Amino acid sequence: NKIVLAYSGGLDTSVLIPWLKENYGAEIIAVSGNVGQGTELDGLEEKALKTGASKLYIEDLTDEFVNDYVIPTMQAGATYEQYLLGTSFARPIIAKRIVEIAKKEGADAICHGCTGKGNDQVRFELAIQAFAPEIDIIAPWRFWELNSREKEIAYAEAHNIPLKINKETNYSKDKNLWHLSHEGLDLEDPANEAPINKPGFLEMSVSPEQAPDVPTNVTIHFEKGVPTSVDGVEMTPTQIIEKLNEVGGANGCGILDIVENRLVGMKSRGVYETPGGTVLYKAHEKLEEITLDKETQHYKQSLALKFADLVYNGQWYTPLRKAMTAFVTSTQETVTGDVTLKLYKGNIIPVSVTSPYSLYSAGMATFDEDDCYDQSDSAGFIHLFGLPLKVRALKAKEVEDF
Ligand code: ARG
Ligand code: SIN
Repeated sequence: NKIVLAYSGGLDTSVLIPWLKENYGAEIIAVSGNVGQGTELDGLEEKALKTGASKLYIEDLTDEFVNDYVIPTMQAGATYEQYLLGTSFARPIIAKRIVEIAKKEGADAICHGCTGKGNDQVRFELAIQAFAPEIDIIAPWRFWELNSREKEIAYAEAHNIPLKINKETNYSKDKNLWHLSHEGLDLEDPANEAPINKPGFLEMSVSPEQAPDVPTNVTIHFEKGVPTSVDGVEMTPTQIIEKLNEVGGANGCGILDIVENRLVGMKSRGVYETPGGTVLYKAHEKLEEITLDKETQHYKQSLALKFADLVYNGQWYTPLRKAMTAFVTSTQETVTGDVTLKLYKGNIIPVSVTSPYSLYSAGMATFDEDDCYDQSDSAGFIHLFGLPLKVRALKAKEVEDF
């Protein structure tokens, strides 16, 4: 009897190890996906084993996460109600690896610590269904007696589970290379200002008030929609996100405070820190302004909305998401060039954009004299473009009550 547990070392999953052993008498194999959550992984193995797991796998998924999940979503320009999907696209990759390990270990079930009220349960389970349709899924939050964080803390204390948290800082957080989310506690009332100036609340960034009085310029180079260097220094996309997290975070960029519509029905309030990601989205969007033709650009915008829904709702491994990614990849063929942005107290201000594939024609656009755009063409164009209005207006003269 073996259960593979999606393990983060946080409150929910720490409590789950002794609880599963007590209730299922099973061997617990813990699995953590490293998607760039950094120090959160420190001491994790010791902790997992001490609380009763027989093994902890720490799977390094960071580059795969960035290259196959983050970058394609960024290229799609997808945001869900402004949210940059940091948790949403991390769940599918972690779940996929957990399934691989569950198969290798010959496990009977996979357990996760998501609540029965959130989105994460959906994302985990859809991915598990996609790769292991026959495996049992155990989701204790739906039926266990530890149905509040208070009770979980009491249980942890009774079972000698070391916790880094206390009641005041016990936000529900999710961290990876791309973002850090904060939910719960005082944030649950949208009337409360988010405590972004309270020491210790923000972890990836400072508040705009605390950011320096002088701006920082940053230049990002893209090749076919993939970021390849920052300020002339070539880096992998993972390193670029790390670098942009530093500069973006130091300048108070990418803090988002929203009430969002969860898939499972309720509205929920969250504060997100996505410093590097927000800068990267903006840079990519600026480059597309000059490199995409109007029709593609507009069509892509409408697709971004649906793409974001799919990601948010855990439908990463669907044929539609894959097909949409194929479309987006095709549009990135000419999204190559440099974008400079000015970061200043939470603002991301465009400075310059250049591309060998730029469709921007100064001659066409200029208010000065040009030799390529025949202004007399406009008369016929506008005549036909406005013809339906004209016909209607003429009819209105003929017919009463039109
Ligand atoms: N509301 C965000 C989302 O649905 C963040 C969820 C954070 N998850 C967590 N287990 N703390 O993607
Ligand atoms: C949870 O409910 O487990 C975290 C929040 C979410 O999944 O939306």
